[in-house]
Amino acid sequence: GLPARVRIHEVGPRDGLQNEKATVPTEVKAEFIRRLADAGLTTIEATSFVHPKWVPQLADAEALFPLVADLPVALPVLVPNERGLERALSLSADRVAVFASATESFAKANLNRTVDEALAIFDPVVRRAKDAGVHVRGYLSMCFGDPWEGPVPVAQVVRVCRALLDMGCDELSLGDTIGVATPGHVRQLLSELDAAGVPTGAVGVHFHDTYGQALANTLAALEHGVTTVDASAGGLGGCPYAKSATGNLATEDLVWMLRGLGIDTGVDLARLVATSEWMAGQLGRPSPSRTLRALSHK
Ligand code: HMG
Ligand code: MG
Repeated sequence: GLPARVRIHEVGPRDGLQNEKATVPTEVKAEFIRRLADAGLTTIEATSFVHPKWVPQLADAEALFPLVADLPVALPVLVPNERGLERALSLSADRVAVFASATESFAKANLNRTVDEALAIFDPVVRRAKDAGVHVRGYLSMCFGDPWEGPVPVAQVVRVCRALLDMGCDELSLGDTIGVATPGHVRQLLSELDAAGVPTGAVGVHFHDTYGQALANTLAALEHGVTTVDASAGGLGGCPYAKSATGNLATEDLVWMLRGLGIDTGVDLARLVATSEWMAGQLGRPSPSRTLRALSHK
């Protein structure tokens, strides 16, 4: 059966805006996050404490975070290493995410490290975060296909998932960074994770919509018992270090499907659409979300 409720992990302000050519003013980002909270999203990934030269779009993390920190929602932030964790902790962030890769090519491109070097860097980050009472999400990119290596063996994904859980991550997010997954592959990966002792309750899914498969993949994951789904308002996003990555599953498209299935999300779709339309205006380009276009008043 399907779950009664799904928690949407909104990634627009981070995964969305990290990929925009234009630099969005800090106050506009803060307004975006406030409006998303007002639309009923309860987990909103706010920014990343990464190297500002690697992701200049999020170089204003120190200025942005205090502007939204008082909102009554969870505001996870990405940290790639101890330096990132220190920056986040100094602003009293209480949720962080480390981000691993299932493939060597992407570990190198995204973190300038091998898969195992990156895991070794995350280990003390997760330990220090847990000691400080901070919730830790472990992202795993390239769980299905990789732009340099092609299809990714499930065993590679299982190995890194286990490593992330063993170091103390509270939850995982399985990334289809370049959007090549199809529902059968999703079922197979989730079954093999089950068999390897990775509890479905600890697993979220993170689909990019490059091939238009994100909703079908999400449904396959829900049927398997997954209840945390990542999405990006207006379908913003991609990854600057993965060629051919497009936007994430649009939050509007996800909410439309879940509403039709009678699954509760707490999101007010009209307010969300208005927020993404406003953001599209700020960015000067239309949203790729089909639901947003269908419900748009313009
Ligand atoms: P590096 O160049 O190897 O860094 O980059 P380093 O450790 O050698 O340090 C070099 C310098 O950077 C030092 O300064 C450090 O202090 C500084 P210097 O001594 O030369 O003056 N530094 C930092 N400064 C600020 N904040 C920090 C930090 N760390 C080091 N945190 C590094 C390694 C990890 C830093 C770099 O590769 C990086 O920042 N990468 C981030 C890439 C990124 O953000 N990618 C997008 C997010 S992942 C994603 O989108 C996928 C996801 O959505 C899931 C999916 O779709 O699959 C999550
Ligand atoms: Mg992503």
